[in-house]
Amino acid sequence: MGIVIKNGTVITAVDQFVADVFCDDGKIVAIGRDLEVPSGTEVVDASGQYVFPGGIDAHTHMELPFMGTVSADDFFTGTAAGVAGGTTTILDFIIPNRNQSLLDARDFWMNNAKKSVADYGFHMAVTWFSEQVKREMSHVFHEDGIQSFKIFMAYRGAIGVDDVELIQVLDTAHDLGALVTSHCEHGDAVVALQTRLFERGHTEPKWHAASRPAYLEGEATNRVIQLARAASDARNGHMAHPHEADPVYIVHLTCKESMDAVYRARHEGQRVLVETCPQYLLLEDSVYDKPDFEGAAYVMSPPIRPTGHQEYLWSALANGAIQTVATDHCPFRQSDQKIAGKSDFRKIPNGAAGIENRMALMWTYGVASGRITPQQFVDVCSTQPAKIFGLYPRKGSITVGADADIVVYDPTGTSTISASTHRHNVDRSIFEGFEIKGRVTHTVVQGRLQFKDGELRVERGAGRYLKRSPQVRAL
Ligand code: URP
Ligand code: ZN
Ligand code: ZN
Repeated sequence: MGIVIKNGTVITAVDQFVADVFCDDGKIVAIGRDLEVPSGTEVVDASGQYVFPGGIDAHTHMELPFMGTVSADDFFTGTAAGVAGGTTTILDFIIPNRNQSLLDARDFWMNNAKKSVADYGFHMAVTWFSEQVKREMSHVFHEDGIQSFKIFMAYRGAIGVDDVELIQVLDTAHDLGALVTSHCEHGDAVVALQTRLFERGHTEPKWHAASRPAYLEGEATNRVIQLARAASDARNGHMAHPHEADPVYIVHLTCKESMDAVYRARHEGQRVLVETCPQYLLLEDSVYDKPDFEGAAYVMSPPIRPTGHQEYLWSALANGAIQTVATDHCPFRQSDQKIAGKSDFRKIPNGAAGIENRMALMWTYGVASGRITPQQFVDVCSTQPAKIFGLYPRKGSITVGADADIVVYDPTGTSTISASTHRHNVDRSIFEGFEIKGRVTHTVVQGRLQFKDGELRVERGAGRYLKRSPQVRAL
């Protein structure tokens, strides 16, 4: 049975118009005014509401084994929370241990992800390098449609790589035509700071932030950009123009120092893509001063930044310098997971939840507050992630032939985010008390109404694995 979304104001990354959107067999098959649809078609009256492509969260960690525990949302609960919040596709990370085969890790993650309700793809983290890793990068690129590789410049001693390994990953990705994405923090300096701070008796969550200052993120952001350039020069055998360097994608960028490194490189002609997250746009580092270990809920890497960085990032979003907004969804319960670091901030599992809230937060504090346009909202939350990660136009667009992944958003009314009502499988919300303007009324995934007026109708395992194509070169 088809479904028609009638009379909504369709918003795309470039447009806004009133239309009906008719979906059949999982695809958008017609867009226009007063469409005639077969009898039996399910009708959603979207009059007075906005209709946009389903959100794509390009950065999640469902059931991630990390820091001695496992992130609290699995692929079922996490993608279901996403659907309730208007996110219909996720890109999660396969993260092998050092010395583990990429293919073994892939099998583990692919198996876990079978319970997804939303469509999903993977980035492959490269946590060490060898001839075997090189072969396996090629294998997952060609056979599994994994066109993006992630390196961690942080987490030294665990999954973080050194600069030699980083260059090897850049070179291998170049040969494949793949995109390298990077978590940018100076890993060795962070460890040095952590050690000194702890030795001085500083154990509370706020020292997590103190041990990971913005300048160390800025340094690493600049470094990966320069290493991409150096790798290109080495391949060319001479100093080439910066535009010849492969683009790098900076994940969860948080601060002015990193943004300035990006601006400098772009000014010289180098291509850099940037992702940020709602927490870095909306929270300030005073969250770490909360009493009774409550600051632990905000322990993530990079950390929440001091006042000033947030508006700098909003400006970067508004001027088009940030391409995507993802969540880095990676929740850990306060009660039995974060507590592991009660007497040592270094042991607090890093991460927090956000997938259910991303679209509504970006609508409320981006569009409704006049910082970005509705088109920019669609672009950074859906269209750009699809383009950058090889899913466009199947995902991220409302066009005939695209997957019928659609959100209907009623801009009226308000609500308040709380851990007591959210669908994340975790006991804290880093957005507790944030007021939201409007709400997702309907989420259509693969042409089926999976969320309607507060009620989830998801089907465990209905999500499909997405093989992706390398498209970033065309951007
Ligand atoms: O604190 C975070 N961000 N946890 C998840 C792993 C990562 O660095 O993305
Ligand atoms: Zn990271
Ligand atoms: Zn992450």
